[in-house]
Amino acid sequence: MKIAVIGLGFVGLSLATVLATKSFSVIGIDSDKNKISTLRNCKIPFYEPRLDILLKKTLKRKLIVSSDISLIKDCKLIFISVGTPPQNDGSIDLRMIQSVTAQIAQILTQMKNEPIILVKSTVIPGTTEKKILPILEKKSRKKVGKNFGLITNPEFLRETKAVEDTLQPHVVVLGGNNDKFLKFVKKFYSRLHPNVPIISTNHQTAEIIKYANNSFLATKISFINQIARICEAIRGANVDDVAKAIGLDPRIGPLFLNAGPGYGGSCLPKDIKAVINFASQAGVNSSLLNAVELINEDQLFNIISIIKKKLSPIVGKKITVLGLAFKPDTDDVRDSVSLKLIKLLLKNKVSVVVHDPIAIENTRAIFDSKIYYAKSVKDALRGSNCAIIMTAWKEYSVLSSKDFKLMKKQLIIDCRRILAEKKLDVEYYAVGIGL
Ligand code: UGA
Repeated sequence: MKIAVIGLGFVGLSLATVLATKSFSVIGIDSDKNKISTLRNCKIPFYEPRLDILLKKTLKRKLIVSSDISLIKDCKLIFISVGTPPQNDGSIDLRMIQSVTAQIAQILTQMKNEPIILVKSTVIPGTTEKKILPILEKKSRKKVGKNFGLITNPEFLRETKAVEDTLQPHVVVLGGNNDKFLKFVKKFYSRLHPNVPIISTNHQTAEIIKYANNSFLATKISFINQIARICEAIRGANVDDVAKAIGLDPRIGPLFLNAGPGYGGSCLPKDIKAVINFASQAGVNSSLLNAVELINEDQLFNIISIIKKKLSPIVGKKITVLGLAFKPDTDDVRDSVSLKLIKLLLKNKVSVVVHDPIAIENTRAIFDSKIYYAKSVKDALRGSNCAIIMTAWKEYSVLSSKDFKLMKKQLIIDCRRILAEKKLDVEYYAVGIGL
């Protein structure tokens, strides 16, 4: 069977390569010609563990990558996995998905088979039925359920675990009408992932499932961050022990209880804003999610207020930010809390020094010469008045008092508590530990 995947970001490229290893003939489409030529050279334009190996294994054998969308014409399954980036009011920008849909509809007019279009992109409830379906039917003059299938198929993979999650997702969600096309896709997924539960429902429920999932994850993080702030007010209290204990309650579970500087990345912040915006347009007050966002922002303000108190005045002081990626094992800095921190420090006229094992170039593209990019952790610490550990990279967990001796003032703010067990000869503050 021939399968097309349109949009080769983390989701699309992981899906295309994994399907190609399962001996489907896969065509990966992306309008970005530079990206296509990078991929054709067996290189990935972003960092994602294991994905390069899969690309090398499948390219030119079972996987073709191209910018020519007309290649989808004899595919049975057509996955859409293009981005739906945020707009200023929190709503999502549908231009990319609408444009791809219009191109698919055009090709649909000449297609002899009955293809199935699967929407993997994260879209607000109602989008598949009210925006995507009308474009497909109007432009192709064909009927959904008769000449082609349309299924909402949200994705739950995590960056840094994209391959693993694509090979073995925790769930498959299928939204659509209970027709022959849905049955076909159910069979396809049950063969691909024999032990994974499949939830089939209508389009709009499948769409809200994706937002509910990310909203719950963000809620868990803000919950533990709220507890972390309370722990900070209790002498000797440690949020990690609290998380460990409550995580053993099967009704709570141990995951996503790591307190920190707040959640970042290209998904959680965007999706929470989008669902709040959608709810308010529907006349629903999402007070819980508003609080989740507020607590998230507060984490950063708390860090700034500690620095201001300890370094007063902070104008002209040299401050080191350790970790720029929104989480370890990625070079992705999109919506990373570290970037927000740097912006606030620059606003306060601080001289900012940054370090990250792999995310320096993506950060340089944003701040250019406004900050100093250290080549090593030692270089980053030298002469600094304060070091803030933002991302839990392994190499920061081996830092010792000797390394901090390079600093002018040994003030450490550890947002991930990776040095909490060490007896350090420094002034040490950690998110979630009461002094
Ligand atoms: C998130 C979801 O976890 C995926 O299930 C979803 O498919 C994806 O968004 C998406 O919608 O595309 P991802 O953005 O890769 O995945 O990142 P996460 O691992 O969820 O981390 C997000 C942020 O939360 C990071 O800044 C991380 O440091 C923070 N976090 C996470 C915590 O502060 N504490 C935790 O316990 C967990």
